[in-house]
Amino acid sequence: MSSILEPGITFINKELKGKNIDRIDRRLKNLKDIFFDKTALEKMDPETVVYEVESYFPVEHDIEGGLFYGITYIHPGTVGNEYFMTKGHFHKIRNRGEFYCTLQGEGMLILMDENRNTWAEKMYPGSIHYIKGNTAHRTANTGNTILSFSAFWPSDAGHDYATISEQGFSKILVQRQGKPELISR
Ligand SMILES: [Fe+2]
Repeated sequence: MSSILEPGITFINKELKGKNIDRIDRRLKNLKDIFFDKTALEKMDPETVVYEVESYFPVEHDIEGGLFYGITYIHPGTVGNEYFMTKGHFHKIRNRGEFYCTLQGEGMLILMDENRNTWAEKMYPGSIHYIKGNTAHRTANTGNTILSFSAFWPSDAGHDYATISEQGFSKILVQRQGKPELISR
């Protein structure tokens, strides 16, 4: 056997390829609790795709010591004046960190600590974001094209979506005079 191997997965021509790539999409009907303007939401097609995620899990979930890799693609759009965004989560094991690296488009990484202090970092091609442990994270597309970014996180981190689903972030990201603004709810 040759000692020079092909890589397990590749990302070429904006496509993640390889064995065992997990693909999911999240539509407005799956995200009813995260958007602020429920009246605007009800007028939209519930089948509208808000984002897609491709993930590579080389080890089992909840195993300590491994790493996972994923690419998220958020479509452009708004619900009312709130930008299309991901559900957002804390990690189930709270102290686990994560890296995000923006590939294309423009957006905002919204972060919230356990005392509900919320802030955001600008995302653009080449921007790299270290998300500390104990920090909830969600991303929003503030541009007119797909926002995509890759993520790297520990295999035992897990996802706690419930806390955000029930309590939200303390601030929301809205479009005001064509620009993103982080405002209290
Ligand atoms: Fe995460």
